[in-house]
Amino acid sequence: PVIYAVTPTYARLVQKAELTRISQTLMLVPNVHWIVIEDSEKKTDLVRNLISESKLVATHLNAKTPPFEQLKDKDPRWKRHRGVEQRNMALKWLRENFQPKRGKGIVYFMDDDNTYSIKVFKEIEKVKKVGVWPVGLVGGLNAEAPIIDPETGKVTGYKSGWKPNRPFAIDMAGFAISLDLILEKQEAQFSYMMEKGLQESEFLSYFTTKEELEPLADNCTKVYVWHTRTEKPTITGIVPGLEV
Ligand code: UGA
Ligand code: MN
Repeated sequence: PVIYAVTPTYARLVQKAELTRISQTLMLVPNVHWIVIEDSEKKTDLVRNLISESKLVATHLNAKTPPFEQLKDKDPRWKRHRGVEQRNMALKWLRENFQPKRGKGIVYFMDDDNTYSIKVFKEIEKVKKVGVWPVGLVGGLNAEAPIIDPETGKVTGYKSGWKPNRPFAIDMAGFAISLDLILEKQEAQFSYMMEKGLQESEFLSYFTTKEELEPLADNCTKVYVWHTRTEKPTITGIVPGLEV
């Protein structure tokens, strides 16, 4: 199957570093199609050049977050939804380009700041409809993980330090969905109407139920992706002529 890795990204000092890490992870993954969506009015040369130098099969899009949702410098980040516009743009692109059913595709929302083991992509390849696995360093725990009933092998709940009773207490990095399902459920998308932190839950509700989830990564006992966050650097000046 082709893995469609959907990466929203926005301009900031660490952007090139983040995209370098992500793109060089993807270079180790066979059959990946990288969809990069810039949070900007226009596509930038920085991102364009980085994608072309990576030689990855890629689609470069842009979709600007509307002003009412933009994070102010002093806002804590949970005050705003992040990546909504960009992921919806990727969904639109997939639906416009791959109708009718294309088969053998899997969509994974891959934020630009997380850390991904190449092992997670081996798990994604196994997804039939919706696959799930643990995510490290998120939800107020060392890892957030689906709870599996050893008898039935099905998901019965979630270990999370943050609203464990969410319909799906799973971070964006902890699931992947078959492209056919994405194409089938045309109306499924992210929205600013959703409660903060419930994007994943509400989006997954369009496609599946807890009982139908496919537990991966050794029955959800292994962590292959980490919700790392990059410290904002404090700089006191700009050296001219250097793109960072
Ligand atoms: C958590 C989840 O891991 C995200 O997938 C989810 O979108 C977010 O919460 C949320 O609830 O909205 P967090 O680490 O707080 O993530 O979010 P960021 O990593 O700051 O942003 C997620 C993605 O959106 C990143 O790929 C980032 O580059 C992009 N983004 C962020 C933008 O495109 N524009 C922005 O203004 C901010
Ligand atoms: Mn993040």
